Amino acid sequence: MQFAGSHILSVHQFERADVERIFSVADDMLPYAQRSRVTKVLDGAILGSMFFEPSTRTRVSFGSAFNMLGGEVRETTGFENSAIAKGESLYDTARVLSGYSDVIVMRHPTPGSVSEFAAASRVPVINGGDGSNEHPSQALLDLYTIKSELAARGRGIDQLRIAMVGDLRHGRTVHSLCKLLCLFNDLQVVLVSPEELSMPAEIVEELRTQGHAVLESDVLEESIAHVDIVYSTRIQEERFASQEEADLYRGRFRLNQSVYTSHCEPNTVIMHPLPRDSRDNARELDDDLNDNPNLAIFRQTDNGVLVRMALFVLILDVADQVDQHARDVNWYTQRRF
Ligand code: CP
Repeated sequence: MQFAGSHILSVHQFERADVERIFSVADDMLPYAQRSRVTKVLDGAILGSMFFEPSTRTRVSFGSAFNMLGGEVRETTGFENSAIAKGESLYDTARVLSGYSDVIVMRHPTPGSVSEFAAASRVPVINGGDGSNEHPSQALLDLYTIKSELAARGRGIDQLRIAMVGDLRHGRTVHSLCKLLCLFNDLQVVLVSPEELSMPAEIVEELRTQGHAVLESDVLEESIAHVDIVYSTRIQEERFASQEEADLYRGRFRLNQSVYTSHCEPNTVIMHPLPRDSRDNARELDDDLNDNPNLAIFRQTDNGVLVRMALFVLILDVADQVDQHARDVNWYTQRRF
C-alpha cells in the first residue's frame, strides 16, 4: 500500500508486505523508544488526539510515540469536553480539527464512526478503536509481539497455534487480530467463549476461507493445551445493556498460574490487550502470573510505542529521515525494553 497520506482504519487495508514494512520500521524505532537516541524528525508537526471512550495505553502511547519523534500533541477526551456534546456532527468536527493537525488519532464508541470522520478529514486519520469493530494499531502491536516472542523460540508466524479467550463478540482487538492473521499460512485458531459471546460468524468464515483450522469451544482448560499463544480478553462490560448482564460472564474463564502449569505447554506465551479486569469477580488473567517469564503483556505495551512510531513516520513519509534528525540523549537513561 501507499502509506504516505493514508488513513489507517482497518487491518483489511494491509497486505503481508505492508505488515512486514511496518515491523521493519518499528524495529528501527527501538533506540528512540529506549531513550538512548532522540530525533526531531517531526519537529513542528501536530497530532490531534481525540478519544471519546476511556483509554490508557492507546491514547498515551500514540501521544508518546509522536513526542518521541519530535512532534506535539493536542488532545480532547470525552464527549463532555467536546462540541459534539452540543450536537456538532462528526463531519464538522473533522473539518475543523483537521485544520489544526497534521495527523489525527481517534477513538469513538460507534462502529464505523472513525471512517465517517476520516472521510471528512483533510489529514490522515488513525483508528484508535471504533466500538466493537476494529483496533488496527492494537492488532499490529499484538502481531509484532507474537513475531518477536516466536522468533525467540526459533519460530515464525506461519503455522501459529493460538487460543483467543473471553468476550470474542465485542472485543475489537480480537476482531482485528483475526483479520490480520488471515495474511499468514496454516494457522490453528481456537476460539474460547460463552456461546453468547462468540466470534462474529463472518470473521470465523474469513479465517476458514484462508485455509486456517478454527475450533470453537466454551471450555478453557482443553483449549489452551496445545497452543503457542493464549490471548486472553476482558468481558467488554461497556458493550452490554447492563452490569448485571456483564456479570453473567465475568470470571467465567480465569487463567492463573495453577491453570497454566496444569494445562499449557511450558513455553506458551500469555497475551492480553489490556486492561485486564483485576476485580475479584473477574480476574480473567490473574496477577499471580506476573512473574511468569512467558507473560508478554507488558512487552505488548512497550511494543505499542514502536509500532505507533512506525505508523507515524510511514504516514507522514519521513521513515528515511528519522536518523538524520537524531542525536544521543544527554541525560541518564535506563534500558527499558
Ligand atoms: N488495549 C487498549 O486499547 O487499551 P486502552 O483502552 O487503555 O487504550
